[in-house]
Amino acid sequence: MTMTQRVGLGANSYDILTGSGLLRDFGTHIAALCGSGVAVVTDSNLWTRYGRAFAASMESAGLSAGSDWAPVILDPGEHNKSLDGLGRLYSAFAAMKLRRGGLVAAFGGGVVGDLSGMAAATWMRGVRYVQIPTTLLAQVDSSVGGKTAINLDEGKNLAGVFYQPSLVLIDTDLPQTLPEREFRSGMAEVIKYGAIRSKPLFDRLTGRPDTAALAEIVAQCCRIKSEFVERDELDTGERMLLNFGHSFGHAIEKLGGYRRYNHGEAVAMGMALAAETGEKIGLTAVGNAARIKEVLEIHGLDTACPYEPEALLPQMELDKKNENGQIRLVLIQEIGTAFVHTIQLNELGNCLQRRGIPK
Ligand SMILES: NC(=O)c1ccc[n+]([C@@H]2O[C@H](COP(=O)([O-])OP(=O)(O)OC[C@H]3O[C@@H](n4cnc5c(N)ncnc54)[C@H](O)[C@@H]3O)[C@@H](O)[C@H]2O)c1
Ligand SMILES: [Zn+2]
Repeated sequence: MTMTQRVGLGANSYDILTGSGLLRDFGTHIAALCGSGVAVVTDSNLWTRYGRAFAASMESAGLSAGSDWAPVILDPGEHNKSLDGLGRLYSAFAAMKLRRGGLVAAFGGGVVGDLSGMAAATWMRGVRYVQIPTTLLAQVDSSVGGKTAINLDEGKNLAGVFYQPSLVLIDTDLPQTLPEREFRSGMAEVIKYGAIRSKPLFDRLTGRPDTAALAEIVAQCCRIKSEFVERDELDTGERMLLNFGHSFGHAIEKLGGYRRYNHGEAVAMGMALAAETGEKIGLTAVGNAARIKEVLEIHGLDTACPYEPEALLPQMELDKKNENGQIRLVLIQEIGTAFVHTIQLNELGNCLQRRGIPK
């Protein structure tokens, strides 16, 4: 069964289609938007596994390979989300004579999605694009909301633009073939949505979801994400609540050189730290940190941060959302309700120092 959810953003509104087995219908949905001139950006992992099925779906919708559409196949990996990667896409678009009326289809994880979105936003001053996320993280997070970016040598996601897709197509079966670590990383974001907005969602995360449950869970996360995006498209206010666990998480990712921990693993530790901090300063009801850690651990996510406050705090201070020795931290009152709390760096330091010491 396919679910359709509308992201209401005025002229930039679009649908998110979620369902098990949706891959078979990708071609039909793409053809409805654009009958010719479609660049399918993907990576070699995806294309080896799903290229044949993708091509069959395009063919059955009347789109011929070569004349109507062509794949642009990148190597997998974050290094492609770069100026070089962007250049490669522009060259491929030029070679296939992609016009203003054409379409970019981003078939892959967040790397393919962010890079393709940025390329689509700038190619001939903007062509439409479709997000077809294949990792759990991309399905519940990066494919919805229109944030596109590339990394520079100076930092992650430094160059980017808000550019909403015209459609999001989510086959919830695809994450089943993810390496275990990648699946876990996505589950951390799923747990985040429950923690900040939905106790019923949180409470159902008591084990690895089967195919049917995952389809519902992904749709639920997309609904929550779209509600935030609808209210705060350009991320100047409420959308910040989606960053629960991320201030700590970004610092942890950075300290690990972006290799030791992936995004979700770092955010999992970050959520545990944020919940503990909230309890320490009396803003989070006692017991919630333990509950969050328990659910994260069920999904194979470590919750004990290996870095000392002396290492974490300077990294957090550098975060672009913080200034003047103050940190804007997302906390939860209890599972399902989040808010932003501004805390002085030294107060946060004191809280973290007291970590682990029984009250
Ligand atoms: N735009 C946003 O709002 C937003 C939000 C969160 C993260 N991001 C970005 O997303 C990126 C991370 O994305 P990601 O976690 O999806 O990683 P990814 O795109 O690097 O994919 C992870 C790996 O899984 C492989 N893969 C993808 N789908 C697969 C499948 N179905 N089966 C088997 N293998 C598969 C890929 O080839 C890759 O090797 C980061 O660059 C991050 O900055 C963006
Ligand atoms: Zn995240």
